[in-house]
Amino acid sequence: EKDGYEYFMLKEIAEQPRAIADTLRGRFDTSGGIILDEVRMSDQDFRDVDKVFIVACGSSYHAGMVAKYAIEHWVRLPCEVELASEFRYRDPVLDRSTLVIVISQSGETMDTLMALRHARNQKARVLAISNTVGATIPRESDAVLYTRAGIEVAVASTKAFLTQLAACYLVGLHLAAVRGIKYADEVAAVVAELAGTPEKISQVLEAMEPVRELARRMGTADRALFIGRHVGFPVAMEGALKLKELAYMHAEGFAAGELKHGPISLIEAGTPVVVVVPSPRGRSLLHDKVVSNIQEVKARGAAVIAIAEEGDDVVAPHVDHVVFTPRVPTLLAPLLTAVPLQVFACELAAAKGLDIDQPRNLAKSVTVE
Ligand code: M6R
Repeated sequence: EKDGYEYFMLKEIAEQPRAIADTLRGRFDTSGGIILDEVRMSDQDFRDVDKVFIVACGSSYHAGMVAKYAIEHWVRLPCEVELASEFRYRDPVLDRSTLVIVISQSGETMDTLMALRHARNQKARVLAISNTVGATIPRESDAVLYTRAGIEVAVASTKAFLTQLAACYLVGLHLAAVRGIKYADEVAAVVAELAGTPEKISQVLEAMEPVRELARRMGTADRALFIGRHVGFPVAMEGALKLKELAYMHAEGFAAGELKHGPISLIEAGTPVVVVVPSPRGRSLLHDKVVSNIQEVKARGAAVIAIAEEGDDVVAPHVDHVVFTPRVPTLLAPLLTAVPLQVFACELAAAKGLDIDQPRNLAKSVTVE
């Protein structure tokens, strides 16, 4: 039940620290690998992998986009991410040494199931990340890692999405461990940082009142743009998807670098632009680039809302509003930066009096292609 929350979505947003902690708990073995829930493939099979595809729909696809950055960086394997509905129709090149990671909260999404069957027909190995024990997708896969979000009732994915991110990180670390870690120190540090993320998500949740306030004031806007670079790009896409599905607002998420290749012509005085700003530490080049993107949209009159890392004092003077999230390694940042965007969409839809848990035209599990 809703435990006193007005909507399931609010309850599920609040459950995220617990959901991440549960998903990480007890997963590491003594050799630094992770413990998968069902494994019908050997360590040797994992070592033989020479290419990774990640296939999913909707929010699960956005989690996959984040995973690509982590897997390529930690494991140094080529990794492609594809929408399940497109995957099999373009005749992807697959064989025994291809690992296909399918991500599905429900485990029953027909597009994803069909992609999985296509991959297995081509002899690829399939690893499923799912939130539903015994669903069709995990049953038909060679290996399974379950997220432990618990039942998600609201149609809009929140805690399931966050736990998919955590599971993707675990898979990346597992591949790195099984195959011989290239950046051993970094991976060990990431494991420790991952363990600290539930506490940091709680901190983000505690500071959400200004975001709610902002969302209530923005109820009259008819569109919004979301931009980011690196892992901020999929977070921008996820923020836009939340706003579309909940607030029935036209929202678009794209890579900030693409602005000047077209979308900047959409900016008028007052157009809301949400910017997911990378950490200024370590990858300062990326940070500089995003700051110049902010200046470009500001110069054309945009109302800029930035999600930035605590201690980032460069961004604030350039934007209308800034929401700070705690420090975390760049690749893990989506676990924190996605949260204000969930709250924002939920509150904006609530201000419009819309059905938060059951938006029009949508189903929780899409079992038709
Ligand atoms: O159950 P799945 O993870 O396979 O579902 C995939 C999408 O249908 C789902 O993530 C959808 O995009 C959500 N409603 C987004 O909030």
